[in-house]
Amino acid sequence: MLNRRKLLSLGGIAVGGALAAPTLLNSRPTAGAAEPSHHSGRYMHDMNRRAKGAVDVAYTPFSQPMPVPKTLAPSARLSSLDYYRVNIQQANATILPGVQTPVYTYNGTFPGPTLRVKEGRRAIVAFCNNLTEQTNVHLHGGHIPHSSDGYPTELIEPGDTRHYDYPNNQAGASLWYHDHAHGLSAEHVYRGLQGCYIIDGNDEPALNLPSGAYDVPIMLRDAAFDDQGALVWDLWAPGDRPVLLANGKAQPYFEVAARKYRFRFYNAANLREYTLDLGGRQMIHIGSDGGLLPAPVTRTELALTPGERQEVVVDFSGLPVGSQVVLNDAFGGPVLRFDVVRQAADTSQVPAQLRPMPTLPAATVTRNVSFKLIPGVGFGIDGKLFDHSRVDQTVQLGATEIWKITNEDTDLGINHNFHAHMIQFKVLDRNGGPPLPGESGFKDTVVIGPGETVSVKATFGDYAGRYVYHCHMLEHSELGMMAQMEIVP
Ligand code: C2O
Ligand code: CU
Ligand code: CU
Repeated sequence: MLNRRKLLSLGGIAVGGALAAPTLLNSRPTAGAAEPSHHSGRYMHDMNRRAKGAVDVAYTPFSQPMPVPKTLAPSARLSSLDYYRVNIQQANATILPGVQTPVYTYNGTFPGPTLRVKEGRRAIVAFCNNLTEQTNVHLHGGHIPHSSDGYPTELIEPGDTRHYDYPNNQAGASLWYHDHAHGLSAEHVYRGLQGCYIIDGNDEPALNLPSGAYDVPIMLRDAAFDDQGALVWDLWAPGDRPVLLANGKAQPYFEVAARKYRFRFYNAANLREYTLDLGGRQMIHIGSDGGLLPAPVTRTELALTPGERQEVVVDFSGLPVGSQVVLNDAFGGPVLRFDVVRQAADTSQVPAQLRPMPTLPAATVTRNVSFKLIPGVGFGIDGKLFDHSRVDQTVQLGATEIWKITNEDTDLGINHNFHAHMIQFKVLDRNGGPPLPGESGFKDTVVIGPGETVSVKATFGDYAGRYVYHCHMLEHSELGMMAQMEIVP
């Protein structure tokens, strides 16, 4: 059952990640049209059909180093804020060894540069659109005013610049920024418009977690390629994106010292879910979407639904120099290899308590939200496709509410997930039972299995206006699985 569900929601990817043949691209187009069929269920993705033009790629795994995206320096520092500039532009990236792939980028890199800010210090980011298409920028996980949220119809025209104003008045956390342009975001994110945005919490230095070069964001995603090495984009047959990337490289290696590291895993794939392991080696789960957990959770497997972040500490001490540890996905195979190449001093630690979870006020409103495919129409929320002119939920500013979100796609057996803008929520229960281990901190993206109901609680504070909530499987949200709330003063 679990396997069947995985197969469908992942898109029936049957190709393992590790292909060791020496040729770079093995041009073997497979049959399969990209067009939707016109029968009922035409909005149903054909998960087992290969995207048009996609080929099997072969390359030597672990032959490229995994880069750590550069932290962008502010172009101006004022007393009260930092000012950044980012160009949205086309570029070529080396994703497969020796192959140039045209991509969309922030500042020319794939993924974009990391924006790294301090809790409480405001940042203004000027995003200049040098593409020939509309775009916009959403700060995923951000607690920000509507005007800077990247609302789907508030766009940056080609040639224009838009300033996004980020207060950063929220706990330290691993956020990310990505395109959210209505009707274009699934493709734009897939083509590379994604980057990390890290808020360093004021409570973090005292904890003495691994930091500096030992604090590494790792953006995970997948991709499909044609015989020229170009990305294959197909909204209708997204199922087969067999190449697993870490920080923009296909199955790279990453050299580490024999000590503790903090890894910030991002699921930046459109549709693929990950279940990561280190071959039985322990990971200490310390954080999720909204930042640090109340207390660490030791585990050997870590699941990430699209949009979700999980932070772990991995201790390589005790491993001899020369050791190799493979990060593996239960379904897709090897993702990345850690190579222990040196000894290093380590005074970092993982305290038994990390960040206390505040008690939220009692909820005054409870709402039900349901996710379900509407055959022949699209993916719906409460039976409707997204309509930016329709308000689906009206929420009183400052209210604390419980939302019970149900995935009704039991027939299809596919996962969805729930992501809301502006808020961080607490997971109260799954089908009345306890949340999963590691769901103990604030979150903004939560997986919901078929037939499952997840209850979350949040306070809708500080900012009025319209904000969307949606399934973060981007092909689903693009095909309607998005709705909006209006927060009213
Ligand atoms: Cu990461 Cu509305 O999205
Ligand atoms: Cu978001
Ligand atoms: Cu979905």
